[in-house]
Amino acid sequence: MKITVIGAGAVGATTADNIARANFAEEVVLLDIKEGVAEGKAQDMMQTAALLGFDTKVTGVTNDYTKTAGSTVAVITSGLPRKPGMTREELIGTNAKIVKSVVENLVKHSPDIILLIVSNPMDTMTYLALKASGLPKNRIIGMGGALDSSRFKYQLATKLNASPSDLNALVIGGHGDTTMIPLISKATWNSIPVVDFLQEHEQEEIIQKTMVGGATLTALIGTSAWYAPGAASAAMVKSIALNENKLFTASVYLEGEYGESDINIGVPVLINKNGWDKIVPMNLSENEKSKFKQSADAVRNMNNVLIDSNII
Ligand code: LAC
Repeated sequence: MKITVIGAGAVGATTADNIARANFAEEVVLLDIKEGVAEGKAQDMMQTAALLGFDTKVTGVTNDYTKTAGSTVAVITSGLPRKPGMTREELIGTNAKIVKSVVENLVKHSPDIILLIVSNPMDTMTYLALKASGLPKNRIIGMGGALDSSRFKYQLATKLNASPSDLNALVIGGHGDTTMIPLISKATWNSIPVVDFLQEHEQEEIIQKTMVGGATLTALIGTSAWYAPGAASAAMVKSIALNENKLFTASVYLEGEYGESDINIGVPVLINKNGWDKIVPMNLSENEKSKFKQSADAVRNMNNVLIDSNII
């Protein structure tokens, strides 16, 4: 199986590295527009193969989409990352044009491809990928919720002094500092509701820290994060490649589910060889429902920028 990763920046390279180490794909093609960068990073990764013991073949190419032909999945990380103080939404003008052309090139060479979108603003870029590709909705997946849910588990684990993998927690809604919804009411510590251990102000603090998780790192590092985005992307690719049917929150096209239509936004879905399959229903409180609606309104406003500027 061939997996393509578009963009050999920090997120793309970390995604490719995690996929290679997990040793489930025959080939990973890393593509970048900067001459030599993907080739160099691919070679660097291949020089870890003997040390780490994987057989995945990682190759790098400069903007040559013929090398991506026959890919089962492509992860799209292209575009500008955030600078400190910037919102993900401010990237729309530049990234929309890049993502649109990447999608068209990928589909030309792999008509049955599944696309995993990481570029920001992620929900809107996922909607753009759906409209620009003409692919069935199940083949277009936005990555944010898997990342945000992992960040939520990190915050819960830190507060509870727990192992992050003992936590079950979901973030739904948009992948934005003000649009994501960490569902603390549903989070458990090995089946025990976390709210049993946390006072209200502690719950609120965890939610706030999760929502600005990406921005906190951008302020510290000077650019947006890559380890967790890369790990989240690779985990979703693995669930597709091995037909694992894992439940992730992902940005998918809604047609009435969760009360929304004609929008890509984060809800729980199963990820398998079909792309995303089956939106998993949940009982939300009135407050959670109203937050989801507000989040969808904000994402829709972003999508309208694409329509107003004739990009879709
Ligand atoms: C982040 C970027 C990938 O949240 O959106 O770190």
